[in-house]
Amino acid sequence: MSKKYHIVTYGCQMNVHESEKMAGIFHRMGYEETNKKEEADIILFNTCCIRENAENHAFGNIGALKKLKKQKPELIIAVGGCMTQEKGKPEILKQKFPFIDVIFGTLNLEELEALIKRKQSQKKRVIEVREKEGEIVEFPDAYRTSYPNAWVNIMYGCNNFCSYCIVPYVRGRERSRKAENIVAEVEKLVKEGYREITLLGQNVNSYGNDGNTDGVNFAKLLDMVASVEGDFRVRFMTSHPKDFNEEVVKVMQKHRKICRLVHLPVQSGSNSVLKEMNRRYTREKYLSEVKMLRSYFPEAELTTDIIVGFPAETEEDYLQTEALVKEVDFASAFTFVYSKRQGTKAAEMQNQIPEEIQKDRIQRLVELVNSQTRKKSEKYLGKEVEVLCEDFDEKKGYYLGRDEFGRMGYFKSESDLIGKFVTLKITNANGISLYGEIISVR
Ligand code: SAH
Ligand code: SF4
Ligand code: F3S
Repeated sequence: MSKKYHIVTYGCQMNVHESEKMAGIFHRMGYEETNKKEEADIILFNTCCIRENAENHAFGNIGALKKLKKQKPELIIAVGGCMTQEKGKPEILKQKFPFIDVIFGTLNLEELEALIKRKQSQKKRVIEVREKEGEIVEFPDAYRTSYPNAWVNIMYGCNNFCSYCIVPYVRGRERSRKAENIVAEVEKLVKEGYREITLLGQNVNSYGNDGNTDGVNFAKLLDMVASVEGDFRVRFMTSHPKDFNEEVVKVMQKHRKICRLVHLPVQSGSNSVLKEMNRRYTREKYLSEVKMLRSYFPEAELTTDIIVGFPAETEEDYLQTEALVKEVDFASAFTFVYSKRQGTKAAEMQNQIPEEIQKDRIQRLVELVNSQTRKKSEKYLGKEVEVLCEDFDEKKGYYLGRDEFGRMGYFKSESDLIGKFVTLKITNANGISLYGEIISVR
């Protein structure tokens, strides 16, 4: 019987995709995937540290393995991901959880096989966290779990140092992959039958700014990717409002394959908060970009990230965020309570906001965002919508897929349609989900 691995992933799409790369390493080592921890020979936690609750979550779940490890001493427990790159964290992990076998960072993921093997040949635990980013390592195949979508990294790291954010400290400086490697990966994925390609980077608009891409910038790269032959759609994230631009929108106009959706995190609607956040754009600049995008595609949708309760945020500041949310009319928004991250500039700021005020603001904001999302649903009634079928919901007995704007549509089908573009006529728009009948399939 072959050996088994189990991966627990926290955090963003970047981490989800890195778990796929780690899974690829395990498969090459001859391991198989299991969704039961009790069956696993290796359990790996791919951690996130963007907010305190992400960390607490991981701590809780790692701690819960103590018993299993006692019963099964040959089990290897490995911890990787952003948390291990935080200053002092490997030491804390080591002390708190003496049963962890391997600790490795985001900057030396490619060493995972060697580290596991080293642990297997010695009693002592293995801790290898590289402090500085090295050259980009092109990975052999990832073991992908998100068909019909495929995640494709275009760059790693972040140079922006938004004052609240820990990512630049745990992911290192921006490094862009060579355009030819990205395009070759996309060509291969499309040949294999993937029907949606999502380009990933913390700030995709600064692709190439590091001088690693022979002059190819993000707009050019997007053009190259969308020019790959085949019937698939293209998404990209995340765009940063400080450098989202018309050149990119023109490329979107050139290719119908590119979804008319931009994830453009605004964080706050108040200029003074944006300044303290070191976001390097104003509310006015943000709104003018939205206007520019919609001048090309009136139907374009935006999604966003918003933080409430940032240090010194006043009620007036918060209300400006609400007003901006109303004005832009986002398709959806990820809303967060500000979380203090050690080592960031904002953690040292005066006027940290009390929890009750943060809670009150997040509740009001979530309500506003939800009511907007629901209102948008009604507009879908009776319309035709094309979704990419991605799964079957056993409980509901429906297939499901998303349209280009990320809206979920449910429908019944006798045959398996996963991986097909399905045009639906929407018969019921209930809350955030749409229900429809099949018009055509391709
Ligand atoms: N690179 C992307 C986002 C990466 S993190 C960008 O710049 O938009 C995803 C989201 O987490 C951020 O957009 C922000 O809204 C949120 N976030 C980051 N640090 C946070 C913190 N300390 N507290 C609360 N939310 C935070
Ligand atoms: Fe964090 Fe800002 Fe970089 Fe996004 S752009 S990862 S929010 S520092
Ligand atoms: Fe992503 Fe969390 Fe790291 S959001 S980049 S996994 S800190």
